[in-house]
Amino acid sequence: MAAILVAAVMVVVLSVNAAESSTVEYQFDVATMNVTRLCGSKSIVAVNGQFPGPTVSAREGDLVVVRVVNKAQYNMSIHWHGVRQIRSGWADGPAYITQCPIQPGQSYVYKFTVTGQRGTLWWHAHISWLRATVYGPIVILPKLGVPYPFAAPYKEVPLMFGEWWKADTEAVISQALQTGGGPNVSDAFTINGLPGPLYNCSAKDTFKLKVKPRKTYMLRIINAALNDELFFSIAGHPLTIVDVDAVYIKPITVETLIITPGQTTNVLLTAKPSYPGATYYMLAAPYSTAASGTFDNTTVAGILEYVDPSSPSSAGFNKNLPLLRPTLPQINDTSFVSNYTDKLRSLATEEYPAAVPQEVDRRFFFTVGLGTHPCAVNGTCQGPTNDSRFAAAVNNVSFVLPTTALLQSHYTGMSNGVYSSNFPAVPKSPFNYTGTPPNNTNVSNGTRLVVLSYGDAVELVMQGTSILGAESHPFHLHGFNFFVVGQGFGNFDPVHDPAKYNLVDPVERNTVGVPAAGWVAIRFRADNPGVWFMHCHLEVHVSWGLKMAWVVQDGSLPEQKLLPPPSDLPKC
Ligand SMILES: *[C@@H]1O[C@H](CO)[C@@H](O)[C@H](O)[C@H]1NC(C)=O
Ligand SMILES: *[C@@H]1O[C@H](CO)[C@@H](O)[C@H](O)[C@H]1NC(C)=O
Ligand SMILES: *[C@@H]1O[C@H](CO)[C@@H](O)[C@H](O)[C@H]1NC(C)=O
Ligand SMILES: *[C@@H]1O[C@H](CO)[C@@H](O)[C@H](O)[C@H]1NC(C)=O
Ligand SMILES: *[C@@H]1O[C@H](CO)[C@@H](O)[C@H](O)[C@H]1NC(C)=O
Ligand SMILES: *[C@@H]1O[C@H](CO)[C@@H](O)[C@H](O)[C@H]1NC(C)=O
Ligand SMILES: *[C@@H]1O[C@H](CO)[C@@H](O)[C@H](O)[C@H]1NC(C)=O
Ligand SMILES: *[C@@H]1O[C@H](CO)[C@@H](O)[C@H](O)[C@H]1NC(C)=O
Ligand SMILES: *[C@@H]1O[C@H](CO)[C@@H](O)[C@H](O)[C@H]1NC(C)=O
Ligand SMILES: *[C@@H]1O[C@H](CO)[C@@H](O)[C@H](O)[C@H]1NC(C)=O
Ligand SMILES: *[C@@H]1O[C@H](CO)[C@@H](O)[C@H](O)[C@H]1NC(C)=O
Ligand SMILES: *[C@@H]1O[C@H](CO)[C@@H](O)[C@H](O)[C@H]1NC(C)=O
Repeated sequence: MAAILVAAVMVVVLSVNAAESSTVEYQFDVATMNVTRLCGSKSIVAVNGQFPGPTVSAREGDLVVVRVVNKAQYNMSIHWHGVRQIRSGWADGPAYITQCPIQPGQSYVYKFTVTGQRGTLWWHAHISWLRATVYGPIVILPKLGVPYPFAAPYKEVPLMFGEWWKADTEAVISQALQTGGGPNVSDAFTINGLPGPLYNCSAKDTFKLKVKPRKTYMLRIINAALNDELFFSIAGHPLTIVDVDAVYIKPITVETLIITPGQTTNVLLTAKPSYPGATYYMLAAPYSTAASGTFDNTTVAGILEYVDPSSPSSAGFNKNLPLLRPTLPQINDTSFVSNYTDKLRSLATEEYPAAVPQEVDRRFFFTVGLGTHPCAVNGTCQGPTNDSRFAAAVNNVSFVLPTTALLQSHYTGMSNGVYSSNFPAVPKSPFNYTGTPPNNTNVSNGTRLVVLSYGDAVELVMQGTSILGAESHPFHLHGFNFFVVGQGFGNFDPVHDPAKYNLVDPVERNTVGVPAAGWVAIRFRADNPGVWFMHCHLEVHVSWGLKMAWVVQDGSLPEQKLLPPPSDLPKC
């Protein structure tokens, strides 16, 4: 039965797309390597001896096949962040959600088709904090012969922001989970793995973008940092945003952009007419409303440098020209962030429509934020008080990962004892979410999921809380793009706020910042059967439980059903 189904799908693919679709294959060898940064060397886990890892390039419609061989000492899994994975949830990657980890010495072949997406996405480890160094870009080109909805750039350059600890990041999170306290903050941010001239010993580890006068470059910007949203700006060079999370938008031109972990942003940058030898800083620094000292507040710099087109090899640092520096917003400039995110709009043309669900079948209201667990031993923890540990929860449920994969339990009908289907649709005890926090901040634990029927139109309002301080939480949904139909500050008002929704051209993406002390409303259609993780993309919050999952049941038609698991699916 399963074999017949696969064969039928293959026939459709061949007859419709044979001329333009192809298969792109990669091998990822995951292993440790030594890397020197910030005056010291350390061992990191990386792919194919490259840091950042290799770029996965495909065209819309291609089948991507990546054989991951785990030669490291840690359990591993790879997530193809933002790839819809239609019916192919087995290839999505989050450990204990869609698969058991690839254990040391084992391998797994991820296979998925890129459907209806073009732009920039990225891949990263999806287990513990290993994504700190296990990450790389995914570049999805339009189908052959299909142009961009903007003038083709002269060159395209990936720009990945990362976060670097001098210490071993697995030790950092494991220590934090033991003490119940906040993890040690990172020592630097990086651009394409390089900390740049503002950090000690790093002048030689600087990302340089060499440009020719008058040419237009497309920067494929990805925030792969673990715990920080970042502002980004290049001195003297406005940036035209054309695409976010692999969906075209109505172009907007800005001096500075903001990008949360998990998000991607394609920008066009046009070089000035003629400035051979001129150099400009590009800077990225965090946006956060958290208490000073709880996050890395340093700045990473790269350099944009003009080359002389007549002698590109002679281009160098011209000491007569100053190195110009952009001005970034203040670290806590929430108003800048909301102004920026308010401006993002889907292209919403006939060719690239915004299929916003106009009617809603299922409504959810989730509080997202921090909380506490009691300290296991009296008064020896390092949480917000010495008798508590940091925790985080969605609707007061701090998600506990199971010891087997949820997708397999769902598919085999053996979910008993693995998860329950009673995730609360609304908070059990409402409170003033953005006002004075309740005096009991303890959260409950659970592996609880929401079950959706195939095709349900879902509206989800995520409400930030001010328990232990109001912060922005970049929420990422696996398996879907969603439309950001509304956002605001304070408590969501179910009577007046929906009237202000944008149901015409809201931005469509896979990761959205829930505003600090505010809310965001998203809509999506549950047209992808499987089990789909949803979580804050600040890794520290994931470790504390700021995550949950949705089950989308099969539909009645053959093409509405989850495909059977691959034979090499890792076992727990
Ligand atoms: C990394 O460095 C350590 C200590 O210097 C050394 O023992 C180890 O063999 C190196 N590992 C690799 C993969 O080169
Ligand atoms: C975290 O920082 C503290 C204080 O600087 C230090 O003692 C500890 O060793 C660090 N932990 C790790 C895992 O590096
Ligand atoms: C660089 O090193 C000096 C001397 O050790 C120190 O004072 C300074 O804070 C360091 N700067 C950075 C950005 O780490
Ligand atoms: C950055 O954080 C440190 C504490 O980690 C603090 O001393 C310093 O004032 C902060 N700098 C800025 C610019 O906020
Ligand atoms: C941002 O931080 C500055 C300096 O710490 C403070 O004066 C200001 O009130 C803060 N602004 C907001 C909006 O919290
Ligand atoms: C945000 O937009 C408002 C209204 O347009 C404006 O008054 C304010 O200055 C803007 N804030 C920032 C930080 O850009
Ligand atoms: C914790 O404190 C309570 C009351 O102060 C006491 O009853 C209990 O035995 C203590 N537990 C431990 C593990 O010390
Ligand atoms: C915890 O804090 C309380 C009050 O601040 C103090 O009395 C107690 O000694 C502390 N316990 C430990 C183990 O530090
Ligand atoms: C919630 O708290 C905020 C901030 O303290 C306050 O302005 C608001 O009036 C409160 N809302 C309600 C419904 O109590
Ligand atoms: C907890 O908060 C309530 C108001 O919400 C207040 O009446 C009560 O006194 C508080 N309890 C403690 C122990 O602070
Ligand atoms: C939830 O789990 C944590 C450990 O991860 C534990 O400290 C806490 O007591 C648990 N809370 C409940 C309500 O079971
Ligand atoms: C690796 O994964 C397997 C299967 O889930 C598990 O039994 C084992 O404990 C994991 N190892 C580590 C170090 O977490």
